[in-house]
Amino acid sequence: MPLSSRAQSALAPYCFLLSNFSGAAHDPGVPDPFYMNNDRVLIFDTTLRDGEQCPGASMNLREKLEIARQLARLKVDIIEAGFPVISDGDFEAVKIIASEIQGPVIAGLARCVPKDIEAAGRALLPAGDRARIHVFLATSKIHREHKLKKANEEIIRLAVEGVTQAKSMVCDVEFSPEDASRTEPEFLAEVVQAAIEAGATTVNIPDTVGYAMPGQYADLITYLRKHVRDIEKAVISVHCHDDLGMAVANSLAAVQSGARQVEGTFNGIGERAGNAALEEVVMAIKTRPDVYGGLFTGIATKEILKTSRLISRLSGLQVARSKAIIGENAFAHGSGIHQDGILKMRETYEIMDPRDVGWGGTDLPLTKHSGRHAMVARLEQLGLTLTEAEIVPIFTRFKELGDKKKFVYDDDLVALAGDAAAGETGAYALESLYVVCGGSTVPTATVKLRHNGETLEEASPGNGAVDAAMKAIDRIVKKTGHLAVYLVEAVTEGQDALGEVTLKVDFGDGRLITGKGASTDVIEASARAYVNAINRVLVMQQTAPGVDMSRV
Ligand code: KIV
Ligand code: ZN
Repeated sequence: MPLSSRAQSALAPYCFLLSNFSGAAHDPGVPDPFYMNNDRVLIFDTTLRDGEQCPGASMNLREKLEIARQLARLKVDIIEAGFPVISDGDFEAVKIIASEIQGPVIAGLARCVPKDIEAAGRALLPAGDRARIHVFLATSKIHREHKLKKANEEIIRLAVEGVTQAKSMVCDVEFSPEDASRTEPEFLAEVVQAAIEAGATTVNIPDTVGYAMPGQYADLITYLRKHVRDIEKAVISVHCHDDLGMAVANSLAAVQSGARQVEGTFNGIGERAGNAALEEVVMAIKTRPDVYGGLFTGIATKEILKTSRLISRLSGLQVARSKAIIGENAFAHGSGIHQDGILKMRETYEIMDPRDVGWGGTDLPLTKHSGRHAMVARLEQLGLTLTEAEIVPIFTRFKELGDKKKFVYDDDLVALAGDAAAGETGAYALESLYVVCGGSTVPTATVKLRHNGETLEEASPGNGAVDAAMKAIDRIVKKTGHLAVYLVEAVTEGQDALGEVTLKVDFGDGRLITGKGASTDVIEASARAYVNAINRVLVMQQTAPGVDMSRV
């Protein structure tokens, strides 16, 4: 159903999202805001902004673009691509995503500060009518008095100025009163009303510190719907953090009170305990029509698992086995009674069909006899579209691996692709590794790295084989990294499993850089992961030399 004429006249008609907003018919006898005439819940993904604020999850441009492409396949409504003013790297990422990604609206975050809004507007230019500037300003007493040191009137003035400036650059403007759930409801209503009057088309009500409880948060949304004049001119959005484990429950409670946009991340990654896990929000709405009668999202749910795995691989943040929807155990049935029930009728112990979120249906695994064509086709099925130059080293390693093990599974391939991504121009690639250790010998590693067409070699002793390999690599690249996290995981099953090593390394500037590497040999996987972290820090130093810590 198209927008009601009331809404259309209230909003700029060329706004992409708003003019494409459609859903089920509404009873015309009931006076309700336009978004309540509409049963669609918009999904706003902030993996590339709030998700990336998670310590150690920073991603380079190539990785952000890969995630954005997958989010578009998943059909999220809005991608928050970054915080353009924060660094040259963030600016570039928003700009490139805005120019390359078709489909979703692309949002850029900005404080209510002219230079932030200006940067967001410039970065978003390539998105045309799909650009959204998301401005935020803290409104709670504790933030007003201790962080901003500003009186209520000044907060309202800054919010209005921020929205007005953003509105002069794009028609789609979102306003977030940061720490809304701890703001006095009367003052919150005043700020939200002023933002709408200034032209905000979405008003987001963040539970910034994850303090709210579902009933209370739902009541806050109801309160705003009652007390904010012209609230129907904007979409009410919610943005919940998970400090008390309530982010998804709070988001869903707010939807029942009339919110029609939910912000969060897939896998729930984000600042501190994370954001609302969008896969849970989406599947709750889909699985419980009796509770969320008539509501729906536009998400292509079969893409959920692929998205989750991609984000986990690129952010370096593992998903717990028991995590709802996307964890390894989410659809695994251990007990005999359950297995028996499932065999008799799947629904006895499954409330969702695993295939609906992308599980199952894996074809026969590839072997050393498989050709390049088959490998590329499988990579594409896994959501990895690669260039010719990227395919060559992956295929070489695919054949090497095929010689070592019977089957090359999907996870093997994804790990190989991640590894090979490090072989871009200017990057280092592990050519060979030779380690002597055991008994009373001092562990010693000899490493050869390929760099700009040259082979560089160094050897070093170390406190164990992995340490020796890292020190030899340090000597070649002239950097010193300190391991903060070291994790080994078998990504496939059996004795010939491919081990994947995830590292978090501090190269001296306080940032934790993630590296991943895979091999059937754990020491080699560690060296590959370390080289991967080095390549990533080199890219970051080129694109985002400094991070402005005053971002909030
Ligand atoms: O948690 C928060 O309040 C935010 C805002 C910038 C929306 O991330
Ligand atoms: Zn947040």
